[in-house]
Amino acid sequence: MVPDVDAALLVLERFLLRQRPGFADDHRLVAQARALSLAYTESRVIDDDAAASLAYLAHFGPRAVVAVSRALRALPQKSHVVVDVGAGSGASALAWLCAGARHVSLIERSGAALDLARKLLDGRSFSTTQAPAALAPPHLQGTLLSSVFTVGEWADDVDVRATLQRLAPAASDVVVVDAGDRPRARRLQSLRDELVKDANVVVYGPCGHRDPCPALVRERDWCHDRVEKRLTPSLARFAEHVGRDDERMSLSYLAWGHGTPFAASAVVVIGEPGREKGRVRVPVCGPAGLRFAQALKRDRAVHDVVAGLVRGARLPVPAGNRGDTWHVTDVSEIVESTNPRPECP
Ligand SMILES: C[S@@+](CC[C@H](N)C(=O)[O-])C[C@H]1O[C@@H](n2cnc3c(N)ncnc32)[C@H](O)[C@@H]1O
Repeated sequence: MVPDVDAALLVLERFLLRQRPGFADDHRLVAQARALSLAYTESRVIDDDAAASLAYLAHFGPRAVVAVSRALRALPQKSHVVVDVGAGSGASALAWLCAGARHVSLIERSGAALDLARKLLDGRSFSTTQAPAALAPPHLQGTLLSSVFTVGEWADDVDVRATLQRLAPAASDVVVVDAGDRPRARRLQSLRDELVKDANVVVYGPCGHRDPCPALVRERDWCHDRVEKRLTPSLARFAEHVGRDDERMSLSYLAWGHGTPFAASAVVVIGEPGREKGRVRVPVCGPAGLRFAQALKRDRAVHDVVAGLVRGARLPVPAGNRGDTWHVTDVSEIVESTNPRPECP
């Protein structure tokens, strides 16, 4: 994990402690966060001002920070000016600023959420527009268009790509982050399948190939990422009181643009390694579909590397191996590609 995540989490924690000393053990805040969490997971109608509370920031803020840091690893270049659509109370904007953005333009329909965002981001370079995305002024300046945990609130017939790109048509990159559940993740995967048909678009991540998404073939599948991140003490205690795992977060994301493809010829680890008798298998996805990378226990060195692979790791495409199982026999076959993007200051 890059250091900007820790910086953003610390800023968030300090802000919450200033606004509500002892917030981590505040039972009313905890109850409010629990109710919000339930509303989001059960997809009941979400109040327009749902993100406008300290309970929202304490519960969902860390998720936004961690998710942004995961998605930005897929980007081939650093973005200086970000347009953040559905900015809520500013957690995603804070993440971009801590990751090195010089300026973030927040677009948000809730005035109350923007009031809280202004307090959170005080002293940093940002601007705000209160409007639904469809009514916000188009042609905002930005090198990156971002929408974090927002498009899942949009009706199925909303054209996500067109709605976002209308706001900043000159943006070179777009990042959409959403929850890791099946409907939201599959919506991003369907969008990805549209994008790869456009020869002018490069899909940076989560995968770099241009084949149809194999996880869309069966209705029951979906592709999501799981990020492990230890929170700061108060944020972790709050998460514990609310009843959420403070270390593992599920998310789905899609990053595309017009830059150089990053490791286009990679397969991506999409699940956890499963140890079986005499072997370890890990699901990977890439050109020509889903398969398992497998190593035998007797090949100790390879076995241990495969057993240590984490979701999201990008590996070279196996040469000449098109079956369901990719028999890995040499460590050099699975040397992970690293992102060439410079780390944020
Ligand atoms: C779940 S919150 C996410 C906030 C922030 N990005 C984060 O990750 O913490 C989604 C926000 O998007 C806003 N929103 C949803 N649809 C919108 C639209 N069409 N235009 C502007 N804001 C929108 C909601 O009001 C809400 O504050």
